Amino acid sequence: MADFAFARRTRLRGGDELTAILAGSPPGVLSMTGGFPNPATFPTDELGELAARLALEDAAVALQYTPCAGIESVREYLIDRQEQLQGQRPERAELIVTSGGMECIALMCQALIDPGDTVAVEAPSYLGALMAFAAAEADVVAVAMDDDGLRVDALAERLAAGARPKFVYTIPEYQNPTGRTLPLDRRRELVELCRRYGVLIFEDVAYRELSFDGTSLPSLWSLAPDVVLQAGTFSKSFFPGVRLGWAVGPRDVVAELAAAKQNTDQCAGGLGQRLVEEYGRSGGFERHLPDARAIYASHWAALSAALGWHMPEGVEWTEPTGGFLTWLTLPEELDAFAIRPAAVAAGVAYVPGPPFHVRDGGRNALRLSFSHLTETELEAAVGRLAAVVRANATSVQGMPLATRRTSRSPDERPRAR
Ligand SMILES: Cc1ncc(COP(=O)(O)O)c(C=O)c1O
Repeated sequence: MADFAFARRTRLRGGDELTAILAGSPPGVLSMTGGFPNPATFPTDELGELAARLALEDAAVALQYTPCAGIESVREYLIDRQEQLQGQRPERAELIVTSGGMECIALMCQALIDPGDTVAVEAPSYLGALMAFAAAEADVVAVAMDDDGLRVDALAERLAAGARPKFVYTIPEYQNPTGRTLPLDRRRELVELCRRYGVLIFEDVAYRELSFDGTSLPSLWSLAPDVVLQAGTFSKSFFPGVRLGWAVGPRDVVAELAAAKQNTDQCAGGLGQRLVEEYGRSGGFERHLPDARAIYASHWAALSAALGWHMPEGVEWTEPTGGFLTWLTLPEELDAFAIRPAAVAAGVAYVPGPPFHVRDGGRNALRLSFSHLTETELEAAVGRLAAVVRANATSVQGMPLATRRTSRSPDERPRAR
């Protein structure tokens, strides 16, 4: 067979963890890997009629190529929607339609990253973004987080020491992979800091509309539209099959993203754009999102109770207030990659921590998604995972089963639903 000479960037790609997540788990394995929305949240009752109507009545627009920046009426709708949700109305030149959050990350790389340029990220951060930054040959600098998300003081130290990242990539709410949310005071500090140094913030709001209680803090973009480029997606709030999102931010950055789009897919799919617009204008998000939020809140409650019930002392996890994800820290001596085969053999899958880190880190951590499995499955999955942890961690082997039960009231015992 011929020996094809693949591009250098194929060797910068990192592992195949993302491909594995998207492929799903084998039958019999309860998968807590992907940040997949729950299919019960898909608006199947309305989509068929909507798509049929667009095909019949709007084929010349919905089935045609569209301008790079998006169909005019769709941009108009998205401008209205940002004003409604974020209290800040972008100008026309400040918003484009994208083919989803991941495409916006790729466009940001094309528009801003030359090989060797610095990009700052949270440690840990979204796997897809880290892979894109690595493939763009960026020098990726990790900034520490704590329970309240990005440590702005740590970023300030880096900037004071001379670091000048092309942008700071951050996921302020229900962060991937930790589920953490940046409080308002830190949001203000972050935008002020970046303004002072003239550093662009790249705000990824993938899970923003999925708080458990329906409330949200001001977005970074709404606080500082002059220094924040925001990437939004309809993957979690509508459905990922539509592959659609938006970018809003300073007009010169948005113009470069629109220009870069000529080199990716040239335009987002017209049918998906018009679906979002029609669905949104008819109040679809207001009708469906409360139910979606209730599903995820209830799933988190089930997972949280199961973790409290099954996990031994020495295992810690984050407490998200929205989104799909929690981050588990295992006893120090455990390696999340090393015990994964045992977990899969026991019928449970997760994503180990290291791929979410730029260099070292996350060895004894793992990410769990609670969006997709049923609540009964979540409890079973945690039971299986806890058994694997006990079997492999010398520090907890001798401990009685369900050590934490004593510290939780019996009412917190997870119930099958
Ligand atoms: C934080 C974050 N950003 C971006 C994406 C990609 O979104 P999209 O499906 O719109 O490409 C995801 C998907 O899981 C994500 O978690």
